[in-house]
Amino acid sequence: MKRIIIAIDGHSSAGKSTMAKDLARQTGYTYIDTGAMYRAVTLYAIRHGFFSEDRLDEEKLRVALPDIRISFQGNEAGESETCLNGVNVEKEIRAMDVANRVSLVAALPFVRQALVGKQQEMGKDKGVVMDGRDIGTVVFPDAELKVFVTASPEIRAFRRLNELRNKGEKVSFHDVLDNVKHRDLMDSTRKEGPLRRAGDALCLDTSRLTEAEGKAWLLEQYHRITGSLPVSEPESL
Ligand code: DC
Repeated sequence: MKRIIIAIDGHSSAGKSTMAKDLARQTGYTYIDTGAMYRAVTLYAIRHGFFSEDRLDEEKLRVALPDIRISFQGNEAGESETCLNGVNVEKEIRAMDVANRVSLVAALPFVRQALVGKQQEMGKDKGVVMDGRDIGTVVFPDAELKVFVTASPEIRAFRRLNELRNKGEKVSFHDVLDNVKHRDLMDSTRKEGPLRRAGDALCLDTSRLTEAEGKAWLLEQYHRITGSLPVSEPESL
């Protein structure tokens, strides 16, 4: 069967990674979480003291960049986990200190150029589901299937609040909503690789969808593009 590249972009906490992982599992494709790569570089910068308070010494990061190796390995559940220089850092890259600083790192052109090159290399044989912000616009502008996932800021903040509270963090809805809006602004206004919908991307608004509905819609688009099942005309939800 024809192997393709599937680019899933969109706002944070819109449900991209849940849908992308599910599609990779259903199709046997490799799932690549590009946000994890920006997070891993950020973790390296924190651990090597490149941040003082919230200021980043960009020059130190530029010099160190060739020494930062990011890879993925499967766990027992078959999920992909992120490694930094050979050590599994999946848990550490999800922590708040990384989340609060990653936007600064992701805005640096030399970081983006290095990671985009690596992502293109990882997808060169196709058969990948890649999720991020600039996959359909910069990394793989010729991807056969592009999806832009969004949801209202309030719904996304509510989902994030539940995730954080489940981890035992005490946060208010207002703080989470502010953070969601701030990240939207940072992601969509940076000069290099800003978050925007590719002209030929299908748009999926998950505000009123269940997880199962989002996953089913994405699988249907995959079948439509690869011709593996007769399905109805493409439609943005
Ligand atoms: O998807 P995420 O929340 O794990 O992404 C972490 C950060 O990395 C977020 O600030 C957006 C940024 N990012 C990016 O700029 N480009 C990508 N392709 C993926 C993520």
